[in-house]
Amino acid sequence: MKWDPAKYVQFGDYRDRPYFDLTARVHADSPRHVVDLGCGPGNLTATLAERWPGALVMGLDSSAEMLAQSAVHTGQFPNLSFGRADITDWMPTEKTDVVVTNAALQWVPGHRDLLARWLAALRPGAWFALQVPGNFNSPSHTLMRGLAESGAWGGRLAGVLRHDDVVGEPDDYLNIMLDAGCDADAWETTYFQLLPGGNPVLEWVRGAGLRPVLAALSAADARDFEAEYAARLAKAYPAGPHGTVFPFRRIFAVARKRE
Ligand SMILES: C[S@@+](CC[C@H](N)C(=O)[O-])C[C@H]1O[C@@H](n2cnc3c(N)ncnc32)[C@H](O)[C@@H]1O
Repeated sequence: MKWDPAKYVQFGDYRDRPYFDLTARVHADSPRHVVDLGCGPGNLTATLAERWPGALVMGLDSSAEMLAQSAVHTGQFPNLSFGRADITDWMPTEKTDVVVTNAALQWVPGHRDLLARWLAALRPGAWFALQVPGNFNSPSHTLMRGLAESGAWGGRLAGVLRHDDVVGEPDDYLNIMLDAGCDADAWETTYFQLLPGGNPVLEWVRGAGLRPVLAALSAADARDFEAEYAARLAKAYPAGPHGTVFPFRRIFAVARKRE
């Protein structure tokens, strides 16, 4: 699936904030190797290089479009690099001290089993921090799924959108981390995002959740789908006097492997 980095970084502050809420709970003092799995455009990975100047910080992503953006940050920090990889092939080494993965694992089928394997391979004392969206049952997604499964669209979009168990609940991640011999902390936060402009929730999902649908359709069909979806979204998220409130639930979990 092709990403559009410019679209993704629209609403930057709302997209970035969970990363800082997540990494604030990682209390590593002087890590050697730090990895950001599914690093996207790399702007947030760069903050890890700034925070830990003594660490080698590596961002991994499978998207050439996203990685093209990340190049601008490597000049800023000599300890920062990026690589193209499918994170399902990645495993920690004995030098990996911190792993961060933000808003990426929802794209990786079977990631809970993968997480258990990563944690098993992590050295004692190392940290693992993950964040995934927990909004797959909110109108922005149920309306998209409902439309994608309905009459005319059903045939063309079969299997394109994943169902509602695409991510775990906070206690699923907590239990995987505890079972792997970690101290662990899981929580959820709903951000009440106030978005400007006309039908801004459509603009938001265009940057992420709607991309598989658009990628599966011809340009003309994508326009028709968007028009039908936009009408439903506008009813579900009406504009108020201050903008459109778009509640967004996110799930966080941080582990430290016991020594
Ligand atoms: C929503 S973006 C999040 C980017 C970044 N972590 C952030 O918080 O801004 C999800 C990223 O995960 C990447 N991704 C999804 N599946 C992947 C996989 N199997 N291997 C590597 N990267 C993957 C996508 O290419 C995309 O850049």
